[in-house]
Amino acid sequence: SSFMIRVPASSANIGPGFDSIGLAVDLYLTLEVTEQADWEFISPSAGDVPFEENFIYLIAKQTAEKHGKSLRPARVEETTSIPLARGLGSSAAAIVAGIELANQLGGLDLTAEEKLTDATEIEGHPDNVAPALLGGLIVSTYIDGEVDWLKIDQLHLELIALIPEVELKTKAARDVLPEQFSIADAALGSGIGNVTVAALVSGDYELAGKMMEKDIFHEPHRKPLIPNYDLIQRTAKEHGAYGTVISGAGPTMMSFVPSDRRDKIIAALEEVLPDYRLESLKMDVGGLTVEQ
Ligand code: HSE
Repeated sequence: SSFMIRVPASSANIGPGFDSIGLAVDLYLTLEVTEQADWEFISPSAGDVPFEENFIYLIAKQTAEKHGKSLRPARVEETTSIPLARGLGSSAAAIVAGIELANQLGGLDLTAEEKLTDATEIEGHPDNVAPALLGGLIVSTYIDGEVDWLKIDQLHLELIALIPEVELKTKAARDVLPEQFSIADAALGSGIGNVTVAALVSGDYELAGKMMEKDIFHEPHRKPLIPNYDLIQRTAKEHGAYGTVISGAGPTMMSFVPSDRRDKIIAALEEVLPDYRLESLKMDVGGLTVEQ
């Protein structure tokens, strides 16, 4: 049989919401799969590595084994518009794609909740894998191996991703974070996150954007690693953005903007960031899809 797996990119943290908030955006990883006698992986990012070393294959194999099944071989052709190591959830998309590949080729019959716990266990936190799987903006938390989550499936705003040429590995961007927060800072950080979510749910994007730029958990610590952080935030704000934050662990910045200001904001950012890839994005609400 033949089928196609499609998984969206995602942007985690939205300023506050470290490891706990993320939204799916309309850039995609796709796998075109055709069952055949032997394995064959065509993967632009993996180059010439044998299929046994392909990341998506390894995720699929590990997932099938975990559920006591084996995989039927197939030809898998990967295409992607998600830039790698830029804070747009390329590895989360690959994990979700690998789990779905196992689901299809191993007859696993996984529920969405099972896919979510498997993906979160692999990634360590649910903020990218949850929207990659479920679509929308997902507020989630991972406690004792279980993911609790809620989905906000409408945002009346648009997104601009500002993607620099340089890569930044998530590990390097996590190594700069403090080991501990005082109770006062933890309370403040949590309060900022709480107001952000309440504002998004209420559709008060001015307030949400204001809170987004007040994060204290990770933004101030990562700012030195992010090229043009202040310039991007300031330029976007001056031209009417609600809020502009680091996407995931960076180095991409994500600006949340009113639809009617989008073109003006893009033009202003293009002028000051000639070497960037600017993507005008919308939230993806469908998440993982499989087409037979
Ligand atoms: N919440 C994660 C981080 C996202 O900011 O490190 C990237 O995995």
